[in-house]
Amino acid sequence: MSPHPIFRDDLLAGQVGIVTGGATGIGLGISTTLAQLGMHVVLASRKPENLKAAVDGIVAAGGKASAVTVDVRDQERVQAMAKEVHDAHGRIDLLVNNAAGNFYAKSETLSANAWKSVIEIDLYGTFYCTQAVFPYMKANGGGRVVSTSMTLHYRGWPLMAHATAAKAGVDALTKTLAVEWAEHGIRVNAIAPGPIPTEGVRKAFTPPPGAPVPDVFSVDKAMETWAMAAIPLKRWGTPEDIGQMVAYLASPAGDWITGSIFVIDGGEWLAKSKPAN
Ligand code: HXC
Repeated sequence: MSPHPIFRDDLLAGQVGIVTGGATGIGLGISTTLAQLGMHVVLASRKPENLKAAVDGIVAAGGKASAVTVDVRDQERVQAMAKEVHDAHGRIDLLVNNAAGNFYAKSETLSANAWKSVIEIDLYGTFYCTQAVFPYMKANGGGRVVSTSMTLHYRGWPLMAHATAAKAGVDALTKTLAVEWAEHGIRVNAIAPGPIPTEGVRKAFTPPPGAPVPDVFSVDKAMETWAMAAIPLKRWGTPEDIGQMVAYLASPAGDWITGSIFVIDGGEWLAKSKPAN
């Protein structure tokens, strides 16, 4: 039974979707939401142990899911993955380019390999996966691509030159492919999630070992205080907030939507861009 009151339970029944990075974090929220609405979700990522746990969880809850291992930087493997999924199911209706790599680093010290790693995962990987599903979507008379972007490049984000450059590329790719592939019925959109309290975010709020910490300090309290101050809608996002947007775009309601980038962040980036008093 769908826990999403505005969507009917079988909204996406009969559809097949691939979610890269779909076994953890926001990707798992997207995979879970799509499976709850009847889609067969193929979770694609590098780590078999993450894939197994996520697929087991979705199947135990009554959903349809399977796994493929892939590093989105490996174009040949990506093409083989798309063929495997198509051979197994006879269709690919949706691709969610969610896999991403990221870390904070000073631009002046970023090694060539560090720059390349993030650009290859976030931008090349998005292109490789999207290009790989194209022939199957075209043959099927259409399909949906939803890529994960971010808002940090709207104003610049120090220590993240690699990721902001890659995501700006994802935005450009989204708009270009939307126009190029409209004639094949392929809708290409992007989502820009705001702050979601994944493990990585919790770590950022946890004082480093040995740092002076007041007796009353709690990570949960620090996170709540930050959200109340920084997010106009006054709460952190959830992976399900993002999953429901993807479900909408995959559904018939998304039929006339292409080339759009949806910010889903409780107003966070707009508030951050306020001029200082
Ligand atoms: C500087 C770093 C570094 C760091 C890695 N490198 N971490 N440089 N500071 N913190 C450098 C390494 O030294 C190496 O360069 C190069 O990057 C590649 O590192 P590897 O570990 O060999 O690469 P790999 O195993 O392929 O891992 C890729 C990765 C990793 C991107 C570096 O972090 C990863 O796989 N991340 C996936 C999960 C993830 O990051 N998710 C976040 C997505 S969230 P040298 O020169 O030494 O060889 C998101 C939204 C962010 O994207 C919003 C934030 C506010």
